[in-house]
Amino acid sequence: MASPLVVDHAARSEQGSEWWRSAVIYQIYPRSFSDSSGDGIGDLPGVTERLDDLRRLGVDAIWLSPFMRSPQKDAGYDVADYCDVDPLFGTLADFDDMLAAAHARGIRVIVDLVPNHSSDQHVWFQEALAAAPGSAERARYMFREGKGAHGELPPNNWESVFGGPAWTRVIEADGRPGQWYLHLFDSSQPDFDWSNPVVWEEFRRVLRFWLDRGVDGFRVDVAHGLMKEDGLPDYTPDPDAGSMGGDAASVPYWGQPEVHAVYRDWRKVLAEYDGDRALCAEAWLPTIEKTALWVRHDEMHQAFNFEYLETEWDAAKLRAVIQESLRAYSAVGAPSTWVLSNHDVVRHASRLALTAENPQGHGIGPHSPGQPIPEVGLRRARAATALMLALPGSAYLYQGEELGLPEAIDIPDEARQDPTWFRTDGERYGRDGCRVPLPWVADAPAFGFSPSGASWLPQPAEWASHARDVQEADDASTLRLYQHLLAVRAGERLGEESVALEWLDWGVDVVALRRGERLFVAANLGTEPFALPVEGSVRIVASSAPVDGVSVESDTTVWFVID
Ligand code: GLC
Repeated sequence: MASPLVVDHAARSEQGSEWWRSAVIYQIYPRSFSDSSGDGIGDLPGVTERLDDLRRLGVDAIWLSPFMRSPQKDAGYDVADYCDVDPLFGTLADFDDMLAAAHARGIRVIVDLVPNHSSDQHVWFQEALAAAPGSAERARYMFREGKGAHGELPPNNWESVFGGPAWTRVIEADGRPGQWYLHLFDSSQPDFDWSNPVVWEEFRRVLRFWLDRGVDGFRVDVAHGLMKEDGLPDYTPDPDAGSMGGDAASVPYWGQPEVHAVYRDWRKVLAEYDGDRALCAEAWLPTIEKTALWVRHDEMHQAFNFEYLETEWDAAKLRAVIQESLRAYSAVGAPSTWVLSNHDVVRHASRLALTAENPQGHGIGPHSPGQPIPEVGLRRARAATALMLALPGSAYLYQGEELGLPEAIDIPDEARQDPTWFRTDGERYGRDGCRVPLPWVADAPAFGFSPSGASWLPQPAEWASHARDVQEADDASTLRLYQHLLAVRAGERLGEESVALEWLDWGVDVVALRRGERLFVAANLGTEPFALPVEGSVRIVASSAPVDGVSVESDTTVWFVID
């Protein structure tokens, strides 16, 4: 085996065709990454300043959550102008500088596109409010008459993903209550009407705006939501299904077949550009089989594998979801993706030790049942990541997981900002706990996140020990583990489907496989130590926890070769 530790970033970034098939893509949540201005909210110059840290981490690309003009009612997923940078985050020139600096380091850049809804401050929505029912301005959104004798009831029974009704009534020009508009999320996020060709035209323009600037692709927000079933029939969600998924039956606002035509259209727009630009779908769907429909050859390039993210820490379930992913995606000619954390879910260093159900978006707080034990969570998170990074396909990392950050649980009520918290009267904590600004320097104001010491969400005091500078100096840290795993993954080309994967039957509690000729991977999810069933001299290449000889402790993943 060639030296596994030498990473040639330049060569990797020039691999050229279809870089996204095996890429490690790091999600930056701009408001919590790094603040250069001192206002307590991260910004684009802050990203530029830290790119060398990401290069050292060894990622191929970054995806930035929205930084476009927005009143920030849903942390930027409420866009008021798709073609400008919000002053909170900087300027378009700052974006161009960041993009150039990333490309100079061989790091590709994906931006977030939010096509299901805009902000209520978007000029189109303001025009719609000012215009009359039935006007062309209203036809760009989902305005409907209410039910009841005076239109006082919403047009149907749909609920917002964030809680409460999915409809809000407007006041018409004559000062009286009038039509209702649909918002699958917050009332400040009106849904576009994608049966209207002007909406298609506008989004082609937005795509080209960013493609012309040189972005490498788009992460497409709520990609499964754009089309709604004709007639907008009532629908009562299955209480056991995740808020964004729904059960296997048809949900009239998720995964409607007409939505695929939109992405076929976008794929053609991307094909006008050089350099393998890519689309990645955020589509919460009930099965992998359904999600794979998003990545057929003429649609998106990737889709997040949320089934993988949602899989419990259980060897049989993990094996099954990995096998099903590889099968379903390869059936449509796409790579699988893998993801364990993002800005909408409980961080996996806490989630994997939760003993109670936690549907997507609900978060955990001080009064949640089944509180995670931090040491158990971190140990499992490291083992889970080491397994994930050994798999073929593209892997998504969420900022801070390389520091082993847990969910911030003790956020004071008055500091919480997620609309979910407000729309459910505090019944659901929401997603603030995974969005707390990163600790960079243990011994600095706001742990180095902001020069002024400000932080838009409070950082737990114990995060000093998670700070990047502390971890850079500690061989056993989670950061050093991530750097090492990514270096070996790159050197051994583990992301590539052409490097064979063979399953090994090493017992019910062990997920074991071989990649290529010589690299073995074993994750022990059992409660007892596990002796590697191999002959010869075992050389551990990477390990999520210390390994003694050939015995692998509980909640540990090892990568090894036999010399
Ligand atoms: C997506 C985003 C989430 C946002 C929602 C509405 O799920 O990931 O953060 O709140 O869409 O745009």
